[in-house]
Amino acid sequence: METNALSIGFAGLQLENPTMLASGVMGYSAESFHRIAKSGAGAVVTKSVGIQPRVGYVNPTVVQAAAGLINAMGLPNPGIDVFSEEIKFSKTILRVPLIVSVFGYSAEEYATVAKKAAEAGADAIELNVSCPHVKQTGAEIGQNPKILAEVVQQVKASINKPLIVKLSPNVADITVLAEAAVKAGADALTAVNTLKAIAIDAETMLPILANVKGGLSGAAVKPVALRCVYDIAEKFEVPIIGCGGVSNWRDAVEFFLAGASAVQIGTAVADDIEVFRSVTKGVENYLRKKHYRSVKEIVGLAHRK
Ligand SMILES: Cc1cc2nc3c(=O)[nH]c(=O)nc-3n(C[C@H](O)[C@H](O)[C@H](O)COP(=O)(O)O)c2cc1C
Repeated sequence: METNALSIGFAGLQLENPTMLASGVMGYSAESFHRIAKSGAGAVVTKSVGIQPRVGYVNPTVVQAAAGLINAMGLPNPGIDVFSEEIKFSKTILRVPLIVSVFGYSAEEYATVAKKAAEAGADAIELNVSCPHVKQTGAEIGQNPKILAEVVQQVKASINKPLIVKLSPNVADITVLAEAAVKAGADALTAVNTLKAIAIDAETMLPILANVKGGLSGAAVKPVALRCVYDIAEKFEVPIIGCGGVSNWRDAVEFFLAGASAVQIGTAVADDIEVFRSVTKGVENYLRKKHYRSVKEIVGLAHRK
């Protein structure tokens, strides 16, 4: 087996191993990104940053579900101008790619934030499109192919770095949104963000989260996320990053077989920061046992059936 069996390159990014920190789980500090990289992550995605500072929702913002978490944080973030300094500092200490997650309420806002993040040194931009559009209440940008395409086009035109679009699973057919993103210039897709969910307390007889509804993550969402990756890989050549419920090497392998070139890990990091190392080690052993020289060789193999 090659010594670099786990390294993989796509969309202009080169990773030493195919695991990444998912957006939102370890906040905004350079120190926490450094800690994640030291724990074996092949790349780090920041929490989503917007044009202005936001305090987010009041507590409770996270609630435990049977096999995962439901969160509604309200996108608390320091705003891109303050965060740019952290990006610059992160780049002096991080030896793995730093991907800055960006959100906005219009194409212009996304483009402005992405440009500033790229200028500060982000190695790639990931668009969190699970946000409402300023002129279209009720729906998320990532649920409307026309609006999504407009956002992707404007961001693409304003940066010179790889552009990753993180898709929402809360749609009837994710390949319609994948197609819109790819045609508009996405270099890679992350599939997926959280699934719309709610938790209700039988005692108080009320929803638990301050925001009432939230997004489900963790083991419960894995089969849905896997299906999303499979559906996209079946139709398009675009590199895919699988995200949703990865907590061990077997989960990661399933995503590679479905067509993902890398996986992001979010909820499982809260339980064990060393999860990146155990996933990577397990994938390496799996490849050796199955006589594959590189993780690249197993990407999409489930599509033979
Ligand atoms: C507490 C928490 C905060 C999150 N914040 C963000 C965020 O800021 N931006 C984003 O794109 N996704 C965010 N996510 C979604 C994750 O990046 C990921 O898509 C989702 O949790 C599924 O992966 P997992 O099952 O490995 O956690 C958040 C998830 C959690 C649990």
